[in-house]
Amino acid sequence: MITGFQHMHSALRWVVLALLVVTLVKAWQNRQSSFTAGQAKLGLFTMISMHIQLLLGLALYMMKGWASMLGQPGVMESTVMRFFTVEHLVGMLLAILFGTLGHSLSKRAASDDMKYKRQLRYFGIALLLIVASIPWPFRPGFEAYGWF
Ligand code: HEM
Ligand code: HEM
Repeated sequence: MITGFQHMHSALRWVVLALLVVTLVKAWQNRQSSFTAGQAKLGLFTMISMHIQLLLGLALYMMKGWASMLGQPGVMESTVMRFFTVEHLVGMLLAILFGTLGHSLSKRAASDDMKYKRQLRYFGIALLLIVASIPWPFRPGFEAYGWF
């Protein structure tokens, strides 16, 4: 089951990244026009994809033993162990927080202009944080993690 969760979590990164990019590109292209129900749905699906990653990620964090490594000697000296115990967790939690704000604050904005602006601002920050916090296989020490 853990392996299944890990494969899902790994593949879903592309869904999250694709939804973020499409939502941002469309928000930029249409920012002068009226805010459509379709654009709101894109923002909602983007947020949901991140919430699913959150759920899977937290399950992996507990089940693979990363949580219990916090505070153990040597963990902070190891690039990979520090990455999964702290950096990936904190980076992604912040990204998902901004991603949730991108949907929620856009929904609550009074004008169409502000709805687009909030999507662009918050989903933009979420995208940067996610790209920076993924264990890409070209990062030294992360060769064992795939592209998919
Ligand atoms: C640890 C797991 C999760 C946490 C902590 C979490 C947290 C939240 C929070 C704080 C909101 C409120 C956003 C707002 O202000 O509107 C929210 C909304 C929502 N979440 Fe999650 N979520 C989690 C997992 C999931 C999962 C697994 C799904 C779907 C498969 C999901 C789908 C949604 C949906 C549909 C909304 C409502 C959005 C709306 O219509 O405005 N969440 N969640
Ligand atoms: C949008 C959010 C996220 C994305 C895009 C993402 C992406 C990834 C990717 C690509 C991997 C490598 C999977 C592999 O190749 O096997 C991974 C692993 C992992 N992620 Fe996330 N992640 C996200 C959020 C989270 C969160 C919130 C947590 C919570 C702690 C988390 C915990 C983990 C853990 C524990 C692993 C497995 C490391 C291992 O034991 O090998 N992730 N994540």
